[in-house]
Amino acid sequence: MESRFDEIIDRHHTMCEKYDGIARSGRPEDTIPLWVADMDFRAPDSVREALHHLADHGIFGYSFTGDEYFEAVRNWFASRFGWEPKQEWLVCTPGVVYGFSAAIQALTQEGDAVLIQQPVYPPFAGSLQNTGRRLVNSPLHEENGRYCMESPEEMERRIVENHVKIFLLCSPHNPVGRVWTQEELETVNDICLRHGVVVISDEIHADFTFPGHKHTVFASLSKEAEQNCIVCTAPSKTFNLAGLQTSNLFIPNPKLREKMRNFMGRLHYDQPNLAGLTACMAAYRGGASWLDELIPYLAENVSLVRSFLRDHLPQLRLVEPEGTYLLWIDCRGLGLSQEELGKFFSERARLWVNEGEMFGPGGEGFVRVNIGCPRSVLQTALSRLSLHT
Ligand SMILES: Cc1ncc(COP(=O)(O)O)c(C=O)c1O
Repeated sequence: MESRFDEIIDRHHTMCEKYDGIARSGRPEDTIPLWVADMDFRAPDSVREALHHLADHGIFGYSFTGDEYFEAVRNWFASRFGWEPKQEWLVCTPGVVYGFSAAIQALTQEGDAVLIQQPVYPPFAGSLQNTGRRLVNSPLHEENGRYCMESPEEMERRIVENHVKIFLLCSPHNPVGRVWTQEELETVNDICLRHGVVVISDEIHADFTFPGHKHTVFASLSKEAEQNCIVCTAPSKTFNLAGLQTSNLFIPNPKLREKMRNFMGRLHYDQPNLAGLTACMAAYRGGASWLDELIPYLAENVSLVRSFLRDHLPQLRLVEPEGTYLLWIDCRGLGLSQEELGKFFSERARLWVNEGEMFGPGGEGFVRVNIGCPRSVLQTALSRLSLHT
């Protein structure tokens, strides 16, 4: 075995959405799931040891995030991104989607406009539609195979005309795989500061950047940016802990933070999950070398897909990812309708991928493929594709 990530671990009968969901959704039993964004890799040893220790202790009472917890979190952000959050900025939430959704509700009223950049992770639109907020789309577009934001003039016009209150930013971006440059983020920041728009920056994929790309924490741009944003982070994508539902939001501005705390207080959420806190602290303390092994493994998986498509399936075009473990693939070259494309993947190839249209306008004819799996699984998935074209 060349890499620890080559190991195939049976995830069936673990209440796991990715695998146990196959039977529940009526798909063929041998479907390979490459959709929901969790990985098929065991978490770092530091996490497993800490959870063993917790289990052995055997008392699972109410919890809070103390100094030790914060130190582990702060050290992670300082060492990986050169950014040092302050302890009082921390607001723990049971997931990033809960976090940004709560923040939107805390900071806006029904009917207020929130800007997102589609195609984007579906809960961005969902969190607005569910709460009566107005969705304003600032569409991404491709230039030479790379996704770009709208021009600053277009974006600003859209913000002013629609009286946008919040910019919900996906950074790095799921599904188009962009790691926004500092310049791009500064443009967003300048426009938002000029028009009193608060930026909620979902940075859950920050730890996955491929060589040559650097993630910038939005709050690190400037003191003004810091006071005008909410940074949403979590160890869940990075260390494969999504089922433990623990995320760390940073809200440097005391007024924004108070609104968020009041909103969460009204829902009586104030005690984070103990297992989640334990895992997060252990991951940030002891998981760096695991992650540093994982990134090249994922990069190799990307190479595998890239060369496979080039050599065997040129009708499909890989949008070159700068980060994340989710690939955005243009399938329009197959000349299939959306329904036919869905059947091509789910029935003929027996692969469960995310169909692009669920990410909003601009997603039609694309699929999102999760490559956070052992290489042999990806190889089997690709071979099924070549058999069925
Ligand atoms: C951009 C983005 N935000 C949030 C989430 C989910 O976060 P959580 O499970 O912490 O709610 C995902 C999961 O795929 C994601 O891609």
